[in-house]
Amino acid sequence: IPVDPFDLIIFGASGDLARRKILPGLFRRYRAGQMPEQARIIGAARSEMDDDEFRSFVAEAVREFGDVPYEKDILDSFLSRLGYVAVDAQGEGGWAELSSRLTGSHVRAFYFSVGPNLFGALAEKLQEHGLATPDSRMVVEKPFGHDLESARALNATLAQHFDETQIYRIDHYLGKETVQNLMAVRFGNMLFEPLWNAQYVDHIQITVSETVGVGGRGGYYDQSGAMRDMVQNHLMQLLCLIAMEPPARFEPDAVRDEKLKVIRALDPVMPHHIVRGQYHRLDGTPGYREDVENPRSTTESFVAMKCHVSNWRWAGTPFYLRTGKKLRTRASEIAVVFKDAPHSIFGAESGRHRNVLAIRLQPNEGMQLDMTIKEPGPGGMRLIDVPLDISFAEALGPDAEEIPDAYERLIMDVIRGNQTLFMRGDEVEAAWAWTDPIIAGWESRGDVPKPYDPGSSGPDDSLMLMHRDGRKWREMR
Ligand code: BG6
Repeated sequence: IPVDPFDLIIFGASGDLARRKILPGLFRRYRAGQMPEQARIIGAARSEMDDDEFRSFVAEAVREFGDVPYEKDILDSFLSRLGYVAVDAQGEGGWAELSSRLTGSHVRAFYFSVGPNLFGALAEKLQEHGLATPDSRMVVEKPFGHDLESARALNATLAQHFDETQIYRIDHYLGKETVQNLMAVRFGNMLFEPLWNAQYVDHIQITVSETVGVGGRGGYYDQSGAMRDMVQNHLMQLLCLIAMEPPARFEPDAVRDEKLKVIRALDPVMPHHIVRGQYHRLDGTPGYREDVENPRSTTESFVAMKCHVSNWRWAGTPFYLRTGKKLRTRASEIAVVFKDAPHSIFGAESGRHRNVLAIRLQPNEGMQLDMTIKEPGPGGMRLIDVPLDISFAEALGPDAEEIPDAYERLIMDVIRGNQTLFMRGDEVEAAWAWTDPIIAGWESRGDVPKPYDPGSSGPDDSLMLMHRDGRKWREMR
């Protein structure tokens, strides 16, 4: 279903995120027929470019990152909807020109794909030049601050100019198909929700494992580390969706209120419940410190931790989180590991068997439910665990609409004015309020991350974190 006609203005349009994600994503939505003919996309950045140069830049981005066959007619038609204006966020240049390009009757969205240090200046210019109307939407990228204080300052700056209902803070994990499916599975089925609590769930594992290093983004990453880059936002959001109470409706504030309660119920994390790691040099592959060109860096490229959501539903159920760069596989999943059956009628020799519901974010998005059955054959009552496996791509068949990338979906939600999958200001602040003391503890103790081999599954201490509790991480394949 096409969205309403819109003008989307992308600040930072010549940047990496625009090139890799935003612009190719918009093209895919156009190709899928979701973008109306009247839609306009205006790139804005400091560099001087004319419309044609910008269109060539976008064509190149689509070819490189679009992941679609080259179809000249469609691409040309998409490109004809694009324009470019060079603007100076801190000066006067370009603003009048930008204003003259906007269409009065369209939904208007401004995408701040720039560093947070420019949010304030851009917001001011938009107001000063009358570009932002009361129902214009502002899309802001992560990182949303570096800690609680800076996040509060950013929220305050935005609040000076816009209402919270106009602000769309992106966490692209919320745009992933499976992440939304998590809510459908939990709240659309009778099967799981009655078991979704401390009484039946032994523990939960959330893993986001990446094979890439930090090459190319060292400057930013070394100031952040896995905790700020991944845990404070993406893993925290996954945890919220797994742990939250059913909202009364699938509506923005109903959902976000419930997520906020989860973050506020998180206990502070004990230092011995966290393992930090940093990949080192191995067989000529550069280590983290070389990648970030900081030979003494003590920033973590891996973190594993055990946390607790202290509320009625989850008291005593650990949530184990881990994420890292340069690991063996690119795989992300959330696994709900259920408790053992209270009594085994098959005797101790039948071994230990547990139901696990694993929600795969990537690759091959889908779900798997491990069930215990009898091993087929004449060997007596021997138990084995087999997966009931649903790959969404397979389940939906070859004719199904292709699964949109997280960014494409989220941008369309901005145009529709639906904030459900965007973070509210208080949520982001609460997540920082939980993260800050953890990082402050590392700093005050002079904590040094444990080295790990690139291509491994992280430092051994992360295995110990589980082992001590008589549990183990699921293998990522
Ligand atoms: C970004 C982080 O937010 O998410 C990156 O800054 C990380 O460090 C990326 O690589 C992971 O996203 P995805 O969609 O590839 O899992």
